[in-house]
Amino acid sequence: MSILITGGAGYIGSHTCLCLIEKGYDVVVIDNLDNASDESLKRVTRLTGKEIPFYEEDVRNTDKVIEIIGKHNVDSVIHFAGLKAVGESVAKPLMYYENNLVSTVHLAEAMEKTGVKKLIFSSSATVYSQNNIVPLTEEGNLGCTNPYGWTKLMNEQILRDAAKAHPDWSIVLLRYFNPVGAHESGTIGEDPSGTPNNLMPYVSQTAVGRRDHLTVYGDDYDTHDGTGVRDYIHVMDLAMGHVAAVEYASRFNGCDAINLGTGVGYSVLDMVKAFEKANGLKIPYVIGPRRPGDIATVYSNPEKAARLLGWKAERTLEDMCRDQWNWQKNNPNGYR
Ligand code: NAD
Ligand code: UD1
Repeated sequence: MSILITGGAGYIGSHTCLCLIEKGYDVVVIDNLDNASDESLKRVTRLTGKEIPFYEEDVRNTDKVIEIIGKHNVDSVIHFAGLKAVGESVAKPLMYYENNLVSTVHLAEAMEKTGVKKLIFSSSATVYSQNNIVPLTEEGNLGCTNPYGWTKLMNEQILRDAAKAHPDWSIVLLRYFNPVGAHESGTIGEDPSGTPNNLMPYVSQTAVGRRDHLTVYGDDYDTHDGTGVRDYIHVMDLAMGHVAAVEYASRFNGCDAINLGTGVGYSVLDMVKAFEKANGLKIPYVIGPRRPGDIATVYSNPEKAARLLGWKAERTLEDMCRDQWNWQKNNPNGYR
């Protein structure tokens, strides 16, 4: 039995492959390498000593997915594949809807045709609308402000309907908060193409000299220091959350949304200071205007994950900052 990992060469997918292999699972990866390099999987092989069957394929190619499921005796799927840049999704909404929705529909069709019944889907805290109180529970109001977010919410609906039509299916919608950091070895990590949109890759690229300085997007929010507060989670904790979700999918039928976060919020300046302290570095920064679409404070209530998955995040803020830098300093230009 294998687990099919779509988008497995990417940031979260490669770390999840590593954790699954270490737990004794067989994995097979499909990735079109649109936003990744297969070097990540070669490095996972180096770390685990296990070859990963890899197909440079598009998930929208249903016939190929069906062939791979049959060949590798696939029993469950983790669906990471998708485009994820918020700004790009505003500029190219149709590309985002086409890639992110069609890939999920075709993948679910391939599951129907082959009898695979378990799916873990990469959703996001971005599906929560702005009029919620924190910490966010899974019952929070839903709604998005950009096409990327809508693809996540629409995919959740598509999968809820698929699970209703197939009462023996198990679908877990994992709503990630803010993944950061890298594997402790510094061998695999996040390798964003172009200028990073997210905070921590920007911080570590500033530290390594690829960026002059960080711009802090606003210091007039209603938070303890005026800068935005988020729930940063170590990518290895997030990866372990997928292992727990695969196990949970064997114990339940239906479709359920679960937050993967730490339950603790840190501000932008908290993160800068923690990164400086953990690594003995200085991060030059300037205060700029707010980024459109941002809100003051987002963090999770992680109790449902603890109750249903038996999982909680274990790594500290210091671990996140140390591992982020360990990856960046060993790989100043990512996988290139
Ligand atoms: P990533 O870009 O590193 O990984 C996604 C992978 O999917 C890439 O390797 C890309 O080449 C591949 N891909 C995209 N479209 C494909 C297609 N049609 N067929 C085959 N492969 C395809 O991103 P990530 O950070 O690892 O995120 C993984 C998933 O988690 C994404 O769905 C993302 O939207 C979601 N997510 C990420 C974050 C985050 O902050 N990183 C937060 C919430 C949710
Ligand atoms: C962003 C996306 C969200 C996506 C998430 C994970 C937007 C509006 N939201 O969320 O849809 O699910 O990433 O990929 O893009 N910051 C700076 N300077 C920077 C970068 C960020 O000050 O150069 C601040 C932001 O204003 C925010 C915090 O750092 O307060 C975290 O930002 P980011 O890493 O982009 O994550 P989110 O805003 O939570």
